[in-house]
Amino acid sequence: MRVLSGVQPSGILHIGNYFGAIRQFVELQRTHECFYFLADLHALTTVQNASQFRGLSRDLAAGFLAFGLDPSKSVLYRQSDIPEVTELYWYLSTVASMGLLQRCHSFKDKVAQGVVPNHGLLSYPVLMAADILIVNSNLVPVGKDQKQHLEVTRDVVSSFHTTYDCEVFTLPEPLILDDVAVVPGIDGRKMSKSYGNTIDIFGPEKPIRKRIMSLVTDSTPVEEPKPTEDNALYQLLKVFAPKSETEWVEHAFREGGTGYGTIKKRLFEYFIETFGEARTRYDELQKDPAEIERVLASGAEKARRTVGPLMDSVRSAVGMR
Ligand code: ADP
Ligand code: TRP
Repeated sequence: MRVLSGVQPSGILHIGNYFGAIRQFVELQRTHECFYFLADLHALTTVQNASQFRGLSRDLAAGFLAFGLDPSKSVLYRQSDIPEVTELYWYLSTVASMGLLQRCHSFKDKVAQGVVPNHGLLSYPVLMAADILIVNSNLVPVGKDQKQHLEVTRDVVSSFHTTYDCEVFTLPEPLILDDVAVVPGIDGRKMSKSYGNTIDIFGPEKPIRKRIMSLVTDSTPVEEPKPTEDNALYQLLKVFAPKSETEWVEHAFREGGTGYGTIKKRLFEYFIETFGEARTRYDELQKDPAEIERVLASGAEKARRTVGPLMDSVRSAVGMR
């Protein structure tokens, strides 16, 4: 079984990215053949500032490696280093349904937020389909928000096969972990860079602590039990707390007597326990950018070797060869 997933280098990695995506990536490399990439072409739909953009891929690669993605087990590469991806993207775009793309939630949400949509934003799921299909992936681990994009991929497969009367692509399945499907941000909405409500994983400790302490809570007095439903603090604790601490968390919310401030401090401790090691490794990697580039160059070479045969079949199917 072949696994593939990508993350856009469009900002600093946050807790949602880790629990919704990267943690699964690390686990899957033990049992599967994995391809993980930096979706830099996708990120251009939102980051349109060259100097800001330049460093982001390397930072994300450092994050991947710091969390334990292992270049000897997984193929780690940068999307733009595989030119075949954009070639395949074009073939797919000629069979992708315009109506389906216009109905995608992530596209509609951006438009509803007032973003003036460019064509890249509309065709974003087609580029994703190219990423996925080009290495014959079977499983695509992603957060719930990406589920619909996998449906577009599957639709594009069927449409290509019908149009060209062939069977060149493998039909991929999404892999979504339900218990941490959506990690809330500090304001209770889905944690996302675009909402400005993230808790970052890397960088100095002080601002992260401040961020956690600023998590929005209600005005339940210290001595009273705290609501657990729709409570971002509670949900984040459920995501972070080690099993041995479950009892403490439940007691703190259900019995009363523990204030939100105390609970937030505990959340920060779990944060450091969970990410301390990765944070140290990230800082070390940042000092050795050449090593990161070496890893990405070697990954790109492996990926390009892998995509060759599929691209031959696709070119032949459309009549390019
Ligand atoms: P953002 O919404 O901050 O722009 P991305 O779209 O770059 O994040 O997401 C990268 C990966 O992390 C995707 O697989 C996405 O599904 C996952 N992810 C992002 N935010 C969350 C969240 N709040 N909960 C769960 N998974 C998330
Ligand atoms: N759209 C994904 C995200 O924002 C990133 C991505 C690009 C991706 N191509 C992909 C994820 C292919 C899985 C498979 O999270």
